[in-house]
Amino acid sequence: MDRILRIKDVSKKFQLFWEDVVIFDKINIEIERNELVLFYGPSGSGKTTLLNLITGLLLPEEGEIQIAGLYLDLIPDKDKADFRSNYLGIVFQENNLVSTLTVTENIILFQELCEYEVENKKERMEELLEKLGIDHRKDSFPTQLSGGEKKRVAIARALSTNPHILILDEPTGNLDRESADELCNIVEELFQTTDITIIVSSHDQKMKEIATKIYKVGSKNVQLEEEYPERKKGENIEYRNIATLEREKEDIFVEEEMLLEEE
Ligand SMILES: Nc1ncnc2c1ncn2[C@@H]1O[C@H](COP(=O)(O)OP(=O)(O)OP(=O)(O)O)[C@@H](O)[C@H]1O
Ligand SMILES: [Mg+2]
Repeated sequence: MDRILRIKDVSKKFQLFWEDVVIFDKINIEIERNELVLFYGPSGSGKTTLLNLITGLLLPEEGEIQIAGLYLDLIPDKDKADFRSNYLGIVFQENNLVSTLTVTENIILFQELCEYEVENKKERMEELLEKLGIDHRKDSFPTQLSGGEKKRVAIARALSTNPHILILDEPTGNLDRESADELCNIVEELFQTTDITIIVSSHDQKMKEIATKIYKVGSKNVQLEEEYPERKKGENIEYRNIATLEREKEDIFVEEEMLLEEE
């Protein structure tokens, strides 16, 4: 099975006034395409920081991060957004929905901003709104939605460009038990019925019950705690070829060669 993410000896620190605060000290993580990976740990342990490193929103001081064969630090800053829109669906802890746009407008805008042409945009959006149980809210504005509905819209938006990896930061954080359970069921169903790899940060016990790999984040470390191979996707899932990758890889290697020539 293909490896989709590799984090090798990665260290990250933040500067707080004149002091360096080390968040991660040489962490190592490997994720395959058929996995639903959970990162859990106390508030402030570095879960969001870790997801920001994986999406290239932050760069590590040391070590390397490889996604689907691409080295993140070799992607020029100007191409980072394209990289994200090609491969990743990100659901931020605060959702980041545009408050002046309706549910459908939020999704359409996102599809339009995608670097490549998303096929059958409208059909894809309608399919997702139905799958996530929010089609009856499609003309509402974010402020008119409950916390659980907002989260489902943010997930639909993230999936609307057909990413290979879905990244969820504390998706059940602000939800009541019932909505949190519903959301966990949605995540499990998405995982089991499509070829998407899911990376989630959460404290939720129910997430622990569906994850194939559980990592504990804390004390400058990310440690593999449990593995449940029996929960991995069934054999019948067909994985899309990550075809655009080859083109991007070539571009990146060309840039690297040019840099070497300039030196
Ligand atoms: N840009 C930054 N500059 C300085 N310190 C930061 C920055 N971003 C995060 N931190 C610090 O890094 C630590 C980890 O933060 P992070 O947001 O990753 O934690 P978290 O595990 O996601 O917490 P929560 O469960 O509350 O969302 C915290 O102590 C935070 O204050
Ligand atoms: Mg966080």
